[in-house]
Amino acid sequence: ADAVQDHRVKEYAGAISALPSNPKLRLRCYQGTWVRERWVPGIMAIQRSFTPRRSGDVVLASPPKCGTTWLKALAFATMARDAYPPAHPDHPLLRLNPHDCVPFMEDLFAAGWGSKLEALPSPRLMNTHIQYSALPACISTNPGLKIVYICRDPKDMLVSMWHFIRKTSQPDLSFSDFFEGACDGVCVSGPIWDHVLGYWNASKASPETVLFLRYEEMLRDPVANARKLARFLGHPFSAAEEDSGAVTNVVKLCSFEKLKNLDVNRAALSSFPFRSDVFFRRGEAGDWANHMTPEMARRLDAIVQEKLRGSGLSF
Ligand code: A3P
Repeated sequence: ADAVQDHRVKEYAGAISALPSNPKLRLRCYQGTWVRERWVPGIMAIQRSFTPRRSGDVVLASPPKCGTTWLKALAFATMARDAYPPAHPDHPLLRLNPHDCVPFMEDLFAAGWGSKLEALPSPRLMNTHIQYSALPACISTNPGLKIVYICRDPKDMLVSMWHFIRKTSQPDLSFSDFFEGACDGVCVSGPIWDHVLGYWNASKASPETVLFLRYEEMLRDPVANARKLARFLGHPFSAAEEDSGAVTNVVKLCSFEKLKNLDVNRAALSSFPFRSDVFFRRGEAGDWANHMTPEMARRLDAIVQEKLRGSGLSF
């Protein structure tokens, strides 16, 4: 895999080195979005060679730190529930991190492993942080492909991202520096407002192919959102399943407390170059208040509000 990745990186190296960079956060600005440098070859490869399956694909899309792990678990548990009912004692989510159940497209394609998607059962579940406008048309305008998007109050997203970056790569990153950059649009998958707006507009234009979810709404009513997700994915909970508590069991299996405390998600060793427990921190709304002054919060809210003006979306 390393050899293939080296090959890819070399293949795209010229194009990548010409992109604006933010060395501190190891980001490159590609087609208007600040993305992690190591994802750029993957994004380019997806744009060139992703081949949708006729029988249907499901792309879980999000800006990082907005509930991707949760959405992966919920979508996987929902779609796999005929083979693995949520109370199954050997459920894959009990022994695999949700990121190992639903592949991350940028990493997969950067490693030259896009063809591994062929091995997935239909509909294939996969995830991306690519902004809507940079998706290849075979994903963004494909009536046979469904996109489920999740986002979150940008203030909590930034706090979560800052913790994640500190734990995984830069222990000395100061919150105020990080915050300043993000207000200028520079954070992973930023500008945040562009990311959210792209999928919001797509969900308004095509609600049958793009489902727009919000982390805070899911916290408030996870069962209703799990039902909505299952309906959207074409695998609604039947009356018999409702009676047997299947929806509640899916929600319980995918809950923060349940996943966080599983051995596989507490492991020092994982398929990532860092501990898998970094994906499970607090799992709450409103932690921004512990890191931002009221002035910082007002400033970011005002920027976001201005950027989203007229869209019908607000945070
Ligand atoms: P916090 O850092 O605010 O706690 P992502 O999965 O996109 O990386 O997002 C990570 C955020 O989702 C983290 O937020 C993490 O704690 C939270 N999270 C992870 N699993 C969750 C779950 N099952 N339910 C609710 N929140 C979850």
